[in-house]
Amino acid sequence: MAHTHDNIDWSTRLASLRRADDLDAENDRQVADRLVGLLRPNTEPVIVDVGSGGGGMSAAFAGALAARGGGGRVVLSDAVDELLDAATAHVRDVAAGTPVVVEAVQADASSDQLANQLPSADLVWASRVVHHLPDQQRAIDGLARVLAPGGWLALGEGGLATKCLPWDLGIGEPGLANRLTAARDSWFVRMRAEMSGVTSLPIGWNKALEAAGLSEVFSFSYVIDHPAPASDAVRQSVVDWLAWMYGVGEDQLSDSDKATVARLLDPADSAYLGARDDIFILGASTVYLGQMPS
Ligand SMILES: C[S@@+](CC[C@H](N)C(=O)[O-])C[C@H]1O[C@@H](n2cnc3c(N)ncnc32)[C@H](O)[C@@H]1O
Repeated sequence: MAHTHDNIDWSTRLASLRRADDLDAENDRQVADRLVGLLRPNTEPVIVDVGSGGGGMSAAFAGALAARGGGGRVVLSDAVDELLDAATAHVRDVAAGTPVVVEAVQADASSDQLANQLPSADLVWASRVVHHLPDQQRAIDGLARVLAPGGWLALGEGGLATKCLPWDLGIGEPGLANRLTAARDSWFVRMRAEMSGVTSLPIGWNKALEAAGLSEVFSFSYVIDHPAPASDAVRQSVVDWLAWMYGVGEDQLSDSDKATVARLLDPADSAYLGARDDIFILGASTVYLGQMPS
């Protein structure tokens, strides 16, 4: 297993990350267009995607750069080779036939050497990765050092907990989703506490960007809305979500909830979640931005 600080085997997450990327493609396209719109026109920008996961946002950045009619570079960076290789191959397919260059750099996002490993960037995108690093402020400081003068750092962090399930599923006690979310939150506290060298970040992300020396700090949020009745892709993603929530929160759940989840995840059971069309995905994500002074 490649070394990350969070004791998560990210390589096993590739298929579900890619499925989530497919579902999020339209949201990603809109966010990528908005961020690329911040960059100076008539240039060939360098965009670095730190903790690139399945590569969905890198693919959206490649598309946004190609749509401006010019070139540019999209650099995927992740600590986990298996994810990085698969994501890079996917983004290269998306960028084929365009002047956009796609590169990959394997790196630990918390390394003090990050700015020496990555090219100087006009935009650094880091979504849902900084909260997996032991010293988040130090990591943000390191991400800021990757920026060229005038470049933007965009953190995809926070938002609203995803909702997927009807309140009463007809098996087990109603309100399972809330108990899963509470169990996940308590795992998250433990996951961070168990990291070596962990340091708390007692401020919001906007203040952390300011503390890294960035200016023009602002944020925006967007809704993720895949309403019922659910398509096959939404159902599969909800099954992925439940498997993840159960995997991290299992030891916080009652025996009754564990038995309910086992049935919901069993394709052979009449209660299988993936066979229901009254499930959905509703959530919100936030992007925090700051600019390196020119
Ligand atoms: C929750 S996923 C987010 C993926 C993608 N950015 C997204 O928002 O969908 C976290 C990603 O960060 C990567 N990661 C975790 N720790 C890392 C570290 N120390 N350095 C670089 N990447 C890391 C994981 O391999 C995974 O690809």
